[in-house]
Amino acid sequence: MSNKNKLIPLKISGVGYCVPETVITNDDLTKLYDTSDEWIYTRTGIRERRFVSGEENAIDLGYKAALNAIKKANVKPEELDLIIAASSAPPNLYPSIACRIQEKLGAGKIPAFDITAACSGLIYTLEMARAYIGAGLYKKILLVATDNNSRLCDWTDRGVSILFGDGAGAMVVEEAEDGVDDILAINIKADGSIGEYLTLPLTGQNCPLVEPCEEKPVHIKMNGKEVYKFAVRIIPEYIDKCLEAANMKAEEVDYLIPHQANQRIIEAIQQRLGYSDNKVISNIKYYGNTSAASVPIALAEGVEKGKIKLPSTAILCGFGAGMTWGVAIVRLREGIC
Ligand code: COA
Repeated sequence: MSNKNKLIPLKISGVGYCVPETVITNDDLTKLYDTSDEWIYTRTGIRERRFVSGEENAIDLGYKAALNAIKKANVKPEELDLIIAASSAPPNLYPSIACRIQEKLGAGKIPAFDITAACSGLIYTLEMARAYIGAGLYKKILLVATDNNSRLCDWTDRGVSILFGDGAGAMVVEEAEDGVDDILAINIKADGSIGEYLTLPLTGQNCPLVEPCEEKPVHIKMNGKEVYKFAVRIIPEYIDKCLEAANMKAEEVDYLIPHQANQRIIEAIQQRLGYSDNKVISNIKYYGNTSAASVPIALAEGVEKGKIKLPSTAILCGFGAGMTWGVAIVRLREGIC
């Protein structure tokens, strides 16, 4: 963790989200393989998820989420200094999602790039933005977390494809002119030695002049049990570290807005914190795991549905492929979503 005392303070000024229209229920999935609503719901807390259709992709979802976030932030696209997109399911490796969103927004020739930190993506980009703003390099940054995992699932693998949904969240962060820092603590980490728990190999194929070869399918592979054990071990530990860094007790934070990967993982974290249900934001039932987008969707939708009152404070946490993880304790100002 960097020394926050030396940084220019950061304000979270707008949060938005977008989910595709098509709803696929657990019952719908029974048409693909041997499963049931009861199995999926009791193991994961998921009842339905949203999927893109036609040509819609993570760029379109991210763009709409970005429009909502910049509107809430009352920022014009041309005022932005930088766009960072986090995605592990982009439609293209290049041009990046961030470059396409820069063009769609008409944001001018500002720097724009993507990062891959899977479901920790939003927390990773928040830490990066904090460094850029904190150092005085940029004043207004758009963060977009957008994923379209439905195109990357193996639709014969019932152990993985039941989990994911498509969606996007976006956040505008700025130099806090009132001197109040909205990041009370943040900590991002990775452990590449356990990266094989969750993979999306882009194997491609060798040059046919070297050897004959066949194209291999691109699919998410996961060791669900190991990911589960990893998440319930690592996230409470890093929430404790962040609480200590923020000099706060768990009960002093208003909400837990966790990555929506599995309701049982959310409940394990909730139990460790001793939080009542109304402090824990969960919408996994309706959206499944939307990867990097899940935390900003839960935040913006939580405010929209009246589950989160503003102003308040929240623990945001994510974990995912890499393996990566991140926790942030943030101040949520009035009117940000
Ligand atoms: N419907 C019905 N049965 C299913 C099924 C499905 N969709 N998926 C798997 N099963 C079966 C398995 O074949 C297995 O049967 P068997 O005992 O006859 O071999 C049994 O259910 C148990 O499977 P298992 O994979 O051990 O289940 P699990 O209890 O570990 O639950 C997950 C699977 C994926 C729900 C769970 O491991 C999980 O949520 N892990 C975390 C994943 C995660 O968060 N990933 C995202 C990280 S960002």
